[in-house]
Amino acid sequence: MQRHNHRFLTLLIFSLLAFGASALLHSAENRKGDNWTPQTSLPPGELGKVVALGKEIVQNTGEHPLSKPYVNNALTCSSCHLDAGTDPKGATFLDIASAYPAWSPREKRVITLEDRVLNCFMRSMNGVRPPNGSKVSVAVTAYITWLSSGSRIRMNPQKPLGPHHVPPLKINPKQADLGRGKTLFAQKCADCHGEGGQGTDEGPPTWGPRSYNDGAGLSRNEKLAAWLKVAMPLGDPSLSEQEALDIAAFVNSHERPKFVLEDHLPKAEKLGEYNAEPQ
Ligand code: HEC
Ligand code: HEC
Repeated sequence: MQRHNHRFLTLLIFSLLAFGASALLHSAENRKGDNWTPQTSLPPGELGKVVALGKEIVQNTGEHPLSKPYVNNALTCSSCHLDAGTDPKGATFLDIASAYPAWSPREKRVITLEDRVLNCFMRSMNGVRPPNGSKVSVAVTAYITWLSSGSRIRMNPQKPLGPHHVPPLKINPKQADLGRGKTLFAQKCADCHGEGGQGTDEGPPTWGPRSYNDGAGLSRNEKLAAWLKVAMPLGDPSLSEQEALDIAAFVNSHERPKFVLEDHLPKAEKLGEYNAEPQ
């Protein structure tokens, strides 16, 4: 009897150990899922070609023949989604496909990644929403989805934002000082963006008719300040929260195109389309 008990106990301890080890392994695997590294090699075949096309459009949005008709300013997607969205901080595209479909408080409905892409055309690019399923829309969405390959899905029930979105600042937006912002802009930004914010060869326009419109995320001071904190000056983002907020208020105090939704939608029959070659 004694010996029997002993064997039972050994077995019990053994199973507990094995269970613990497997639980540990399991959580290590989960962590691995979170720490995934971005894709570098393109998928084979047509899919790879479409992903590459999407990247080209993200970098040359105003010039590429497929996207040009839908852009109405001097920006590219890459102007804000730095390094074609591969910068891990500057409004990154890395891992974001895992957050969609997502609830959008603005649209008051669940939207897909494709919808989210098309919204940036209407607002940040001051252009027209390309039709759902059109070549340009599919290519850009395919590129952004590819950047999330291997990540696990965790759809966002609160807002259309990926897991590594620009973190909001802690400072109260009411503490902005336009005068300080003006001086700081002249010191830290004007070399590349021009004294008048009109843009130079070194940087795109930050206000005026060729910049983002007042429906874009960055037209809100707190959003622009948070983005500036992680993105500008380009290559050396080093502003304090107060500086970022002062500069954001100064930049957004200037005129930019007004956003009126109807002006940015395609004709009703073009709002969606069947994306296949005729058989
Ligand atoms: C004027 C700046 C600007 C431009 C230009 C711009 N965007 Fe954005 N976009 C933003 C900001 C800011 C966000 C919010 C990102 C964040 O908070 O991390 C955003 C969000 C997004 C998201 C959702 C990101 C997420 O985390 O889920 C997608 C997708 C997107 N943009 C696609 C595009 C595409 C495609 C283009 C070009 C057609 C484009 N954007 C042009 C500023 C811009
Ligand atoms: C060394 C040049 C340089 C400096 C300095 C610089 N930027 Fe930029 N900025 C750029 C470039 C280039 C882009 C577009 C990113 C790209 O295409 O890779 C950009 C993008 C932007 C954008 C988004 C696109 C647009 O034009 O609306 C804003 C806003 C902006 N910068 C504001 C600022 C502010 C504010 C400062 C000062 C704190 C600053 N930048 C300093 C070069 C610079």
